[in-house]
Amino acid sequence: FVPDAILRVTAQNQTTSCLPSKSTVLVNGTSPGPELRLVEGVTYWIRVYNDMPEANLTMHWHGLSMAVSPFADGTPQASQWPIPPLHFFDYEIKPEVGMAGTYFYHSHVGFQAVSAAGPLIVDDCNGPPYKYDEERIIFIQDTFTGNDSTIEAGLSHNPLKWSGEAQAILVNGQGGGSSNGTACNSTLSSLDIEPGKTYRFRFIGATALTFASLAIEGHNSLTVIEADGAYTQPYNTSFLQIATGQRYSVLLTTKPASENTHYFMQLESRERPTVTRGFAVLNYGTPQPPSIFYPPAKPVMTLPNTTLGFLDYALRPHPMYEDDYPSAQDVTRRITMTVHQRITGPTIWVENNYNWTETFPQEPYLVSLYKSDGIGFPSMDRALANNGLDPVTRAFPAQIGEVLEIVIQNTGADAGGLDAHPFHAHGAHYWDLGSGNGTYNSTLNELKLAGAQPVKRDTTMLYRYALTTGNGTQMGWRAWRLKVTQPGVWMIHCHILQHMIMGMQAVWVMGNSSEVLGKVPSPEVEGYLTYGGDVYGKDEV
Ligand code: C2O
Ligand code: CU
Repeated sequence: FVPDAILRVTAQNQTTSCLPSKSTVLVNGTSPGPELRLVEGVTYWIRVYNDMPEANLTMHWHGLSMAVSPFADGTPQASQWPIPPLHFFDYEIKPEVGMAGTYFYHSHVGFQAVSAAGPLIVDDCNGPPYKYDEERIIFIQDTFTGNDSTIEAGLSHNPLKWSGEAQAILVNGQGGGSSNGTACNSTLSSLDIEPGKTYRFRFIGATALTFASLAIEGHNSLTVIEADGAYTQPYNTSFLQIATGQRYSVLLTTKPASENTHYFMQLESRERPTVTRGFAVLNYGTPQPPSIFYPPAKPVMTLPNTTLGFLDYALRPHPMYEDDYPSAQDVTRRITMTVHQRITGPTIWVENNYNWTETFPQEPYLVSLYKSDGIGFPSMDRALANNGLDPVTRAFPAQIGEVLEIVIQNTGADAGGLDAHPFHAHGAHYWDLGSGNGTYNSTLNELKLAGAQPVKRDTTMLYRYALTTGNGTQMGWRAWRLKVTQPGVWMIHCHILQHMIMGMQAVWVMGNSSEVLGKVPSPEVEGYLTYGGDVYGKDEV
């Protein structure tokens, strides 16, 4: 058995941006880790080694549906045991035909994904539907002062010890500056380009917390052609907003001949008490990219700078290809997931009154189902009596063939106030029905959607709609429509790592027991039922 790729995860002291050296989880020695390039329709096996002596690990292939191998989705306590120290696990991955696009991989344990992540690109088997000369990846991360274990401990502490705000936004692992625009000496990432060419820029939102707006000085014509792995009709914009978990491909035509040798790309955070910035350089052939360029406070570019402007921004591209978007009449069930921050005891997030961190099973759902031959499967009857959630297994069951409308309803916090949350679904992409203030009303929303064809996404924002009342009771919603086709155990969660650690995660069990158990892990996968993978053999250490 020879894996198609090997990822080795270590924890090493590293200096990132302007922060003092601290233990950082790296993939093959770097953050971001190496680019994985797969072709749709082809099966790959990726071996992931946990070389960290003191931490568990899993690897998740963010945005891939994992239809043929739900066991390899990389969610601890849901689809697999975590990989213990000095063990490895073999992940089977087959990107479906039609899902060529931009993805990333990241650890799904604790705060590790802040650094243990890298780009994953799925190429079209017949070439992309858009023409461009070259492509560049813009992998967006953010940095924090504490190391992962300090941040994890703080977030589980009573009372809460917040991680602090992001110190910088990084592009391809580089970037300077700290919150409030303080300069620091740090090299910026240089995107080397040539005049008169069309580039496909693949933006990957791999931040822990940061919801970034970005624009490029002197280049305000960006054409979005892909969102979360779905090609879109061309959509022109001068700036992008990209949340943790989201991806966009953008076509950008460079200047015919450039007056300047370099232009700044600026990123800044939204929806946080302080603004964190990041910069990169679009470099027209200067042999030596600018060494430190902590740029002027605000390079010339178009970014909305009011909260209203930010809320108004709704990137709604149309899908490139017709798909079988179900109408409102086709919907078989509506489920509301209410999200709320509770402070009776430690500060936690609950979905329908359940907190993942407090209630998650010791044994992952999917492993239990295999081991028990389906005993302990979530009960649909119990779930139907309880707004979709089975209180015994604490999972949301769904049947193959159902057309669900999942509404995520923001109900703020015990202490008042609201937060914004990028909600992400594993296992499938959903048609995004939009978002709004107040409580979701499917009839009114249907009128708004008339004639439109929503694009399929895997991560969209539950905004903080508190503008009209500001008293903390105001709500907001995000709605998705989803045709259930894939058996498996799939998570739906906020993609802010801090919120995940505070329990903002839920699990869906899709398919009946024989459908789920039909997706057996291949016999090559050692250790799946026991504890997260095989121990290193002699030749593998
Ligand atoms: Cu990228 Cu469950 O996450
Ligand atoms: Cu959140």
